[in-house]
Formats: sequence, C-alpha cells, structure tokens
Amino acid sequence: MKLLDAIRETGWCVWPGFLGEGLAADLSRESLSSWEEGVFRPAGVGRGENLAVRGDVRTDHVMWLGDEANSPCQAAYLESLEEMRVALNRRLFLGLVDFEGHFAVYPPGGFYKPHLDRHRGTQDRILSVILYLNPAWQPGDGGELRMRTTPGEQGGDFITVEPRMGTLVCFLAGDFWHEVLPANKTRASVTGWFRGDAVPA
Ligand code: OGA
Ligand code: MN
Repeated sequence: MKLLDAIRETGWCVWPGFLGEGLAADLSRESLSSWEEGVFRPAGVGRGENLAVRGDVRTDHVMWLGDEANSPCQAAYLESLEEMRVALNRRLFLGLVDFEGHFAVYPPGGFYKPHLDRHRGTQDRILSVILYLNPAWQPGDGGELRMRTTPGEQGGDFITVEPRMGTLVCFLAGDFWHEVLPANKTRASVTGWFRGDAVPA
C-alpha cells in the first residue's frame, strides 16, 4: 500500500481520490448542512485548562465525530480509517489505539497559523489524517495546506496541498509544521488523529 510506504519513508502522504466520490459527496453535504444549522463551534488552541479560542491563531469551526450517532457516511469513513489503523500497526508498529476527529469549516478569510498537532508535553496524537470536502475547489480559492517536509523544521522545503474533494493527507503529528493558508471561500474537511496509548504528561 503506497500510504504505508510513504509514511515509512518520509513520515507523510498525500492521496488524491482516497475516498470514493459518492462517500465524499455525502460527507460534504452533511458537513454543509450541519454548518448551516449552526452546530459547529469555534475551534480551540491548547488543551485542558489552557484550551482557548484564539482568532489570531485559527479561525475554523468544528463539530466532533461522535462514537454512536454517526451517520452512514461518517461510519463508512471511520471504517476505512479503522482498516488503515490496523494496517499501519501491522506493517509499521505505530501502536495506534484509536481515532478522534471532527468536521472543520473555515469561513471565507479563514486560516490556521503554523503549528504542530501534538500538544506540548503529550504523545497521544501520533498520526494526523485530513480529508478534504470541497467539490468545486479551484486555484484562487485558497485554503491550501502548507506543510514543511523536514521533521521539526519550521522553514525549508514544503509541499502545498489543494483541499480538493476526496484528497487525504496524513503525517506524523509531532514532526511536521503546517498551516492552512487563507481561504477565500468556505473550506470544509474532516480532520483527525490516530492516537497512541501514551499517558498525557
Ligand atoms: C488542523 C490542521 C489542516 C488542514 O486542524 O490541525 O492543521 O489542511 N488542519 O485542514
Ligand atoms: Mn494541524
């Protein structure tokens, strides 16, 4: 599987067309209707007592995936991630225990400044997994993911990923600095993390 080879060799992978069009379209529709219902909440920065909404750092709004009330397309996506988790553990011994994730919407003008996905002093988030849900994305719409490809480096080589419908991106959560460039249109995704069983520090 190319994803396993890529993660082993570089620590990251971009997979256009990861999800079938039908499933991606269902997720995209659900995300949009929940957004319009107003059930998304401004995303926070940090964790525990330090969790805060910081509009200078990120402006996305999120809706967490539940364990029980998942719709058929959410359940199908989680199932394909479960297969991925098992394969990653079998081939790469990553020790991934579970997955947590949310829908994210960046309103026009939205961004997320450069950051790592692993909270300071913890090791629970091992692999970040993002699926984009923007059927009509075009150059000029913005909202690309910019990710540095040298582990631990905030500068240097980078890739730029267009948030096109069905594209999946994975990377080691503690290694790669990344940011969401300003979006000119509403931008939707499912973002999540495979976690290990490390006890938070
Ligand atoms: C995040 C994040 C990137 C993206 O939610 O932590 O970095 O492309 N998202 O949505
Ligand atoms: Mn991130």
